[in-house]
Amino acid sequence: MELKEVLLKRRSVRKFTEETVSDEMIEELLHAAMSGPSACNKKPWEFYVVTNSQKLQELKEASMFTKISSKLAIVVCGNLSRALPMKMAEYWIQDCSAATENILLRVTDLGLGAVWCGIHPQKKAIEKVRRILDISESQVPLNLIFIGHPAEEPEARDQYEEKRVHYIK
Ligand SMILES: Cc1cc2nc3c(=O)[nH]c(=O)nc-3n(C[C@H](O)[C@H](O)[C@H](O)COP(=O)(O)O)c2cc1C
Repeated sequence: MELKEVLLKRRSVRKFTEETVSDEMIEELLHAAMSGPSACNKKPWEFYVVTNSQKLQELKEASMFTKISSKLAIVVCGNLSRALPMKMAEYWIQDCSAATENILLRVTDLGLGAVWCGIHPQKKAIEKVRRILDISESQVPLNLIFIGHPAEEPEARDQYEEKRVHYIK
């Protein structure tokens, strides 16, 4: 698929079929994730690939907005022990967001569907996800990406708004 088509076709998909996502496809998604840029190339990310049905069920309860049933979720976490020092540490959020968008675009390219569900900065949700994944405080879950074979197909669309663009010439 042409990149431009992928960009317009990428929509949040929240309904999935029962079909599982193959290991090969999961690997493709992780390669896409780690192709992303990161500040000083720190790559302060960790990816938790969840296919365990009990854990998926628990992740659904992480927040009010994560009640989504899928056979696969990738949880993108910032690893603070790999982040830049001091105030620059916050760049982990941008780094992990870039990785997340790469996953979403590759999802679309592969004919899969996904939705990005934010966890950070919701304190309670962060704690819940840490408990579910059994990870330490040095890791901050940024989001849950629920992924699967789509059972709905939101329309491709262009959200371009001229008035939001400011040329400084
Ligand atoms: C940071 C972030 C957090 C989001 N959190 C949720 C969420 O918790 N639950 C959900 O269903 N969708 C969530 N979304 C998806 C947005 O609702 C969706 O991207 C937006 O409505 C635009 O629709 P589109 O993705 O189809 O273009 C989130 C998206 C982003 C970027």
